Amino acid sequence: MESTETLPRFLERARSWVEKGLERALPGEDETPSSLHKAMRYAVFGGGKRLRPALALGVCESLGGRAEDALAGAVAFELVHTYSLVHDDLPSMDDDDLRRGRPTCHKVFGEALALLAGDALLTLAFLVPAEWPPGGRRALETVRILARAAGSLGMAGGQVLDLEGEGLEPDLESVRAIHLRKTAAMIAGALQAGGVAAGAAEDQVELLGRAGISLGLAFQIQDDVLDETADSATLGKTPGKDRKSGKRTWPAAVGLEASRERARELVREGLALLGEAGIRKGPLPEIARFLADRKK
Ligand code: IPE
Ligand code: IPE
Ligand code: MG
Ligand code: MG
Ligand code: MG
Repeated sequence: MESTETLPRFLERARSWVEKGLERALPGEDETPSSLHKAMRYAVFGGGKRLRPALALGVCESLGGRAEDALAGAVAFELVHTYSLVHDDLPSMDDDDLRRGRPTCHKVFGEALALLAGDALLTLAFLVPAEWPPGGRRALETVRILARAAGSLGMAGGQVLDLEGEGLEPDLESVRAIHLRKTAAMIAGALQAGGVAAGAAEDQVELLGRAGISLGLAFQIQDDVLDETADSATLGKTPGKDRKSGKRTWPAAVGLEASRERARELVREGLALLGEAGIRKGPLPEIARFLADRKK
């Protein structure tokens, strides 16, 4: 980030940068099967904060790397994230009708196409670093980080714990185990992918992962808080669903105020770890603070 670039400007630059990358990655609607490509594009281009790409870009630039080397990882993480939302909303999972301010993918295209659009987005995510610069060892590392973040020990595993936990006692230990996997793993991976793109050393990438875990937990705590406190127009999702479904959330475990305090504390921990990884100024510390204060 240029020293004069404000956070909104950085986020806008990251958004338009990654959307060009997503456009390049996704087949057009006229490619056969058109229905599948329409569903994929509907899910990807329906808004979204593009937070994970912004984290990857912010880390890469802060460590002296080039944006073009971070793009493949940023696009790959956003594709996996978007697939996870499409599947998360399915009737067999959270059964949601509204996402990013619009009807969910399965509401528009039906369940079978929503499932397959998710599958295809996930698969495409691995093609991108395999084919785009910087290639070589950095591509391999990116793919490894993404696979770990998204798989059964990461996001997919967290989604299982989340579903199996519905209606059970929301003790803090179980909630933390869910949030660590379903959300923090992908946030941590996005930071690490930015580090790898910049050619960061192994111990620095490790620290970025630890920073990402703290920040990712803070992010999911705020997601839980907003589910209880925000309105649908601001959130672009239907609030109040967690309590209705008996989800194990942070506020269900300790209440709203203690959740907000814990999120702020986790942001402070994340900032300290970013500092240890050599990132003390620029957009990253500002994004980190935004994670616990965001309204959507
Ligand atoms: C929502 O993620 C799902 C979680 C992991 C909490 P985001 O809040 O980043 O969703 P978009 O991408 O901005 O829609
Ligand atoms: C979703 O958590 C985490 C994912 C891996 C998609 P939530 O189920 O709380 O996300 P929202 O609130 O529907 O976006
Ligand atoms: Mg869910
Ligand atoms: Mg959900
Ligand atoms: Mg939620």
